[in-house]
Amino acid sequence: MANQQIKTWFITGAARGLGFQVATSAAAAGDNIVVTGRNIETLRAAYSAYGDNVLLLELDVCRHDQVEACVKQAADHFGRIDVLVNNAGYGQLGIFEEIAAPKIEMQFNTNVFGLMAVTRAVLPYMRQQKAGHIINLSSIGGVAGFDGASVYCATKFAVEGFSESLALEVKQFGIGVTIVEPGFFRTDFLDPSSVSYGDTKLEDYQAYSEQVIGSYQSHNHQQAGDPVKFGQVIAKLTNEANPPLHFAAGSDAIELVGKAYQGRLKELIDWAHLSTTTDIE
Ligand SMILES: NC(=O)c1ccc[n+]([C@@H]2O[C@H](COP(=O)([O-])OP(=O)(O)OC[C@H]3O[C@@H](n4cnc5c(N)ncnc54)[C@H](OP(=O)(O)O)[C@@H]3O)[C@@H](O)[C@H]2O)c1
Repeated sequence: MANQQIKTWFITGAARGLGFQVATSAAAAGDNIVVTGRNIETLRAAYSAYGDNVLLLELDVCRHDQVEACVKQAADHFGRIDVLVNNAGYGQLGIFEEIAAPKIEMQFNTNVFGLMAVTRAVLPYMRQQKAGHIINLSSIGGVAGFDGASVYCATKFAVEGFSESLALEVKQFGIGVTIVEPGFFRTDFLDPSSVSYGDTKLEDYQAYSEQVIGSYQSHNHQQAGDPVKFGQVIAKLTNEANPPLHFAAGSDAIELVGKAYQGRLKELIDWAHLSTTTDIE
């Protein structure tokens, strides 16, 4: 993508948190932003200070029937979509056996199938333009497993696999993909207004579950990552001639993602003597 041209962004879950910061950083740089969220009134309140370069659209990414029309409205309004930020998401945390199936389905509907639906709707415009940048919000939990995060991590690993493969498919159209892996950022992510925990309580897990959930709760609004700086960094990334496929955000992410890669590589090497015995002679 050419540097410094005015870009049009389409951002999901943009009423608060990282999505809001990405949107306002892009707007501050003079870009056009299509900010979407589940509640139009909340969006109006959040963006009341912004002008004509902002289009507010109601979009629940789980409502696949809304997605296509919403994307079309955005493209009709600004003429193109240069950057898609698949940000909408939340954490279904807690112990796997304590989380009922409908909550797991809801987590995948939002973090994975919603992201795919929006991507599917935006891609025809980017293919036609022969340009575009898709930024998918993964997590450090998309690279490594964490206590009390099996379901959330499953969705973010899915985002990673989807995005890596998608990047191969759409490169031929000049479309880039960046998977963003934030560490712990001070948003509402761990706040009761966003996070969800399991409903069932199993005695075998009681102490572990209390300790894990207690730890998440104690980090609510105490995280080290600055969402404002996150927004600025994402805006910067979109001006790069060759943006990365993976981008870890935050020094905690650098440490945790690095540790995960090193651990995996060591395990691969340690067990290679056995792994290689499965080939047909
Ligand atoms: N903060 C972190 O530490 C962290 C770390 C790694 C990854 N992430 C990822 O970053 C993304 C943003 O999280 P955040 O930290 O900004 O959390 P947040 O402050 O809780 O904001 C989440 C946003 O996603 C929206 N959302 C949730 N479900 C949606 C749906 N079905 N349709 C449309 N929008 C929906 C929320 O909308 P409402 O306002 O309507 O609820 C809200 O605007 C998520 O994908 C999250 O997994 C965050």
